[in-house]
Amino acid sequence: MSKPKFYITTPIYYANSRPHVGSAYTTIVCDVIARYKRMCGYDVAYLTGTDEHGVNIERAAEKAGVTPQQLVDKNEKIFRDLWKLLGITTTGFIRTTEPRHALAVQNLVRRTMRLSPDAIYKRKYEGRYCIYDNLYVSDTPEPADCQICGRPGELVSEENYFFRLSAYQQKLLELYKNNPQFLYPDFRFNEVKSFVESGLKDISISRRSVKWGIPWPDDPEHVFYVWYDALTSYMSGIGFVDGEHDGAEFKKYWPADIHAMGKEIIRFHAVYWPAFLMAAEIELPKQIVAHGWLLFEQEKMSKSKGNVAYPEPIVKVLGNDALRYYLLRETVFGQDGNFSREALITRYNADLANGLGNLASRVLTMVANYCDGVIPAGRVVGEQLSENHRQFLGRFSDVSVKIILAAYEGFGFAGAIESIWALVAGADKYLVVEKPWTLASDPVRRDELERVLYVAAESIRFIAVLAFPVIPDATQRIWEQLGQTGRLADVRIDELKWGDLKPGTKIGKTEGVFPRVDKKEALERIETMENEIRNPGSTQPDASTTTTKKPPEGASTGTSAAGTAAIPAGAPGAGGAAGAPGTGAAATAATPAPAAPAKIGIEDFAKVELRVGVVKSAEKIAGADKLLKVMVDIGDEVRQVLAGIAPAYAPEELVGRKVVVVTNLAPRKMRGVESNGMLLAASAGPDGKAVLCTFAEDIPAGAKVK
Ligand code: MSP
Repeated sequence: MSKPKFYITTPIYYANSRPHVGSAYTTIVCDVIARYKRMCGYDVAYLTGTDEHGVNIERAAEKAGVTPQQLVDKNEKIFRDLWKLLGITTTGFIRTTEPRHALAVQNLVRRTMRLSPDAIYKRKYEGRYCIYDNLYVSDTPEPADCQICGRPGELVSEENYFFRLSAYQQKLLELYKNNPQFLYPDFRFNEVKSFVESGLKDISISRRSVKWGIPWPDDPEHVFYVWYDALTSYMSGIGFVDGEHDGAEFKKYWPADIHAMGKEIIRFHAVYWPAFLMAAEIELPKQIVAHGWLLFEQEKMSKSKGNVAYPEPIVKVLGNDALRYYLLRETVFGQDGNFSREALITRYNADLANGLGNLASRVLTMVANYCDGVIPAGRVVGEQLSENHRQFLGRFSDVSVKIILAAYEGFGFAGAIESIWALVAGADKYLVVEKPWTLASDPVRRDELERVLYVAAESIRFIAVLAFPVIPDATQRIWEQLGQTGRLADVRIDELKWGDLKPGTKIGKTEGVFPRVDKKEALERIETMENEIRNPGSTQPDASTTTTKKPPEGASTGTSAAGTAAIPAGAPGAGGAAGAPGTGAAATAATPAPAAPAKIGIEDFAKVELRVGVVKSAEKIAGADKLLKVMVDIGDEVRQVLAGIAPAYAPEELVGRKVVVVTNLAPRKMRGVESNGMLLAASAGPDGKAVLCTFAEDIPAGAKVK
């Protein structure tokens, strides 16, 4: 019998900047679902891709001094590399600049005009538009700010093709009524229903003012506006051609079972997209699933705000599973969640290193030492069972498994993980009570010892199967260490049964899967690598190019530079600053790096406020080798600035020195200490030693530097 199909998509990512942890969240969540569904016997197609058209790409390319195509080619690769690094099991990747996609978009509109002649028409449009979030801010020409990023919308006044969304209000409401699961979670579904009930306006689906897009069929002065173009990727990516001559993949997998995304783009998916498809007489996706935002420093993590954390350094220091585990465990799916590097490392050490990792290696080591590396028989004779034993076995009943699977099915990932880790804690307690190390010293109690070790090893097998969708790398390794053959990915999670671990199995070599890390060192390493990503070309190897998928190196840290932000002279837009990693113009201009440094206009330079400062005091920061906390008088106030200059300057030699301070950087915390600016410094020699900028002439604190 052929397997049932399951098709899941992430949104296609804007290719104007590199992905951060917030972007990775959608893809990781979908990967967990895809892996879980495969383990339930589904034939899963999982699509992601890059959204490569539009005015913001055009502008980003211009700023970087490259063509839009060059920019998206470069960034698309960064996305692909990251998904590889994170062990994402997509089966397809679509770029909107691919010819197969352009054809699909043009054919979809042709088909729509043929089947629903009233659905698309041309008229003048005047309104305000946010080029950063790609949405209409208002449908009138009066000034209006974007609801998402707060920036002023730009005036758009031109003739456009419109989609008659207003005609689909009733049909959409019927769709929602007949499909109570159409949008998850419920509270968001209610918001969408109210939005549609309050009346729908027709929407513009083309642009004349933009060149970088797919030409409108037979009217090439227009290009498709981002949403019609982007949404069609879900079909073009699996072989949609025109609804009649489609590829086998499309015929097999369409309609999508899940379109997953962040909450800010629900409307496009739950309102526009079904209406576009209704007009084209194409089957509708089955479910729209929306998650909340990852917040970082109280705001949505977003490149345009500059408050981003990048996945690559985390993976390099703690491993792929650590990031996946943390994101799924810490955020209640559907709600906003906070991202914190400290919390991530704490979870890693507590739940992964001390929790599952420690349990697996203890049990496997005991099997190796007490049972010659062979899974013991573990005979269970009813009356011999202790209460502890009985209770522990009760945790592995079919019902317990069903509860965990139901949590996965219902997007309750944090709950599923919590239940699985309750098994880890249970196994720890079981061992503490049964004390196999004591049993091992008494030959008369051999049966008991074997039973306890069988139960412990079987519990690990169970946990590995259940946790696989979330932490695929470590569980596969535990699987192999348990002497199991084949890929854990191929095991049926829905057929998991206690007792399937075969006595007599020879276990593999025991190796720790989650080495404990020193929090301080791990944090420093992550921060250092992040700085490298923000300021490419500084002294450390670029973490962004790391594609090794291997266990964390965390246990053997200590060689990398401390969390400084020394930027070499000549780094684009950065000007050789030493201090907390920038969140202002300098930092945001640095990613993605153009092949050659882009020129900036004087207006860009003018955004950076530089002033003369006089150092009042300086001190080391506990636990950070490279950072100094510097109090600097900038005329009208004394600022606290963190500077990565400890290797070059003793705190006392700084007092009284005149420095150049970047004064309009957004505040940023490093190692829990706030930095309110940067000190400018050159970076000298192969070690990038910081040399502070200063003045030969006498100059008062607060004077402007320009
Ligand atoms: N290109 C559009 C989608 C078109 S789909 C037909 C887009 N791209 S995006 O790059 O801005 O976002 C891609 C995904 O990343 C979305 O699901 C978005 O919600 C998610 N995230 C981006 N930043 C995020 C957080 N800070 N937190 C959680 N998810 C976030 O929208």
